[in-house]
Amino acid sequence: MTRRVAIFLSGGGSNMRALVASMTGDHPARPALVFSNEPAAGGIAWARAQGLATEVVDHRPYRGDRAAFEAEIAARLAPHMIDLICLAGFMRVLTPWFVGLWAGRMINIHPSLLPKYRGLDTHARAIAAGETEAGCTVHEVTPALDDGPILGQARVPVLPGDTPGTLAARVLEQEHILYPMVLRRFAAGDRRPVFLP
Ligand code: GRF
Repeated sequence: MTRRVAIFLSGGGSNMRALVASMTGDHPARPALVFSNEPAAGGIAWARAQGLATEVVDHRPYRGDRAAFEAEIAARLAPHMIDLICLAGFMRVLTPWFVGLWAGRMINIHPSLLPKYRGLDTHARAIAAGETEAGCTVHEVTPALDDGPILGQARVPVLPGDTPGTLAARVLEQEHILYPMVLRRFAAGDRRPVFLP
C-alpha cells in the first residue's frame, strides 16, 4: 500500500523538493502534504504552485503554548491520512507528546555527522573544531533533539578556506541524495542504515 508522506519545513524547502521529485513510479510513498510553521516559507509557495496539499500553522500566536500549537498541527494533519512525516528544515522543536504520536513514523535530516553537532550552526562549529570531514544524517525522531536511530549518513570533506556557507552548500548536495534514498527504504519498512559514499 502506498504510504502518504507529510513533509514539514520552515524555509526554502530544497530537501522537500528532492523528496517530492523522488516519489514517482514504483516508489512506495507519495507526497500527501507539505506543512509549515512559517507562512512565508519559500517551500510552501513552491508546493502550492505544484498543486500539492499544504497546511500552515504559524507558531507565533502560540508563543509559550507548544501544546496548543502541536494540537493544532495534529488536527490539520488528520484529514490528510498521513502515514509518515519527513522533517526537512523544520525549525521548531517538537514535544515528546507529538513525537510520541508519530513514534517510528517520523524522520529528520540534520546537517552534521550525528552524534556530533546536534542543534544549530553545525557547519560553523565543525569548521571551528578543525574537522576534516562533515556531512548529514537522516534519523528517526525521538524525544531528544537530533537523536534517534540513524537511518543514513553522507560524508563530505571540509576543505581549506571553507566557510559555513561553502560547507553548507557541499553538504546540502548530499542531503538531496541521501534523504530520498533513506525515505524510499524507510517507506518500504527497511530501517537498516545506509552510508554514503
Ligand atoms: C538543511 O540543511 C537541513 O538539513 C537543515 O536545514 C536545511 C534546510 O534546507 N535542518 P532546505 O529548506 O531543505 O533547503
